[in-house]
Amino acid sequence: MAQGHSAVEKNLGLLIVLTLVACSLGGLAEIVPLMFQKETTTPIEGLKPLGALELEGRDVYIREGCNVCHSQMIRPFRAETERYGHYSVAGESVYEHPFLWGSKRTGPDLARVGGKYSDDWHRVHLNNPRDVVPESNMPGFPWLAENVLDGEDTGAKMKALRVVGVPYTDEDIAGAQAVVAGKTELDAVVAYLQQLGTALGRGTVAPAPATAAN
Ligand code: HEC
Repeated sequence: MAQGHSAVEKNLGLLIVLTLVACSLGGLAEIVPLMFQKETTTPIEGLKPLGALELEGRDVYIREGCNVCHSQMIRPFRAETERYGHYSVAGESVYEHPFLWGSKRTGPDLARVGGKYSDDWHRVHLNNPRDVVPESNMPGFPWLAENVLDGEDTGAKMKALRVVGVPYTDEDIAGAQAVVAGKTELDAVVAYLQQLGTALGRGTVAPAPATAAN
C-alpha cells in the first residue's frame, strides 16, 4: 500500500488523473442528489411565478446591480433569522432563473423585504436613500421613475422561462404587455421588492431593525 502511494506521488501524470477522479466523484456525490431531492426541486406551497410587472422589476434589479450589494439568502443562524426572518429554503427559488442568492452584503439581505415598508417608502428610498435613511450609502436611482416600460418583450421572457419549467399560462403570456405597458421601471422594481420572500408566510417573519446598515 505504502509502495503504491509513493508510486502515485512520483508519477505526476498519474497523480493528476487520480486527483481529478477523486474530485469528480466527490463533486458528483454532493451535487447530483440535489438535482433529484424533492426538497430542492419542489416549489413550496403557495409559490407563484413572478407577475409580468414583477418580472420586469427583477430584470431592472439585475441591470442596476442591486444584487451586487444585496444578497437574497438568509442563512439558518440565529443572528440572521432574528434580523431578517425565516431562513431561506430551496423551494422558494425553484422558479428563479438565474437565482440571486449571493453572499455580498454591502446592504441588508432582501430575501424577505416584501411588505416590510410601504410602496411610498421604496419610491423615496430608491430615488435618494438619504431622504429616509440619513446614514445610507446606497446610491440613488432617480432615472427609474422616468423610464417608461412598453412591455413588448415581457411575454417573450415569460415564454423563455416556461421552457425551463416556470409554469406561466398562455393567458399570463398573452396579458403581459397590457400589465406592463405605461408603467415605470420604478413601479416594476417596487412590485418586485414587495413580493420578495412573502410566499413562505409573513407570520414566520420577525421584525427587523428599520435602518441599521448591512
Ligand atoms: C452600493 C451598494 C448598494 C447598491 C448598488 C444598492 N443598494 Fe440597497 N442598500 C444599500 C445599503 C448600504 C443599504 C442600507 C441603508 C439604507 O437602508 O439605505 C441598502 C438598503 C436597501 C433597502 C432597505 C432594506 C431594509 O431591509 O431596510 C432596499 C429595499 C434596497 N436597498 C433596495 C435596493 C435596490 C432595489 C437596489 C437596486 C436598484 C439597491 N438597493 C442597490 C446598498 C446598496
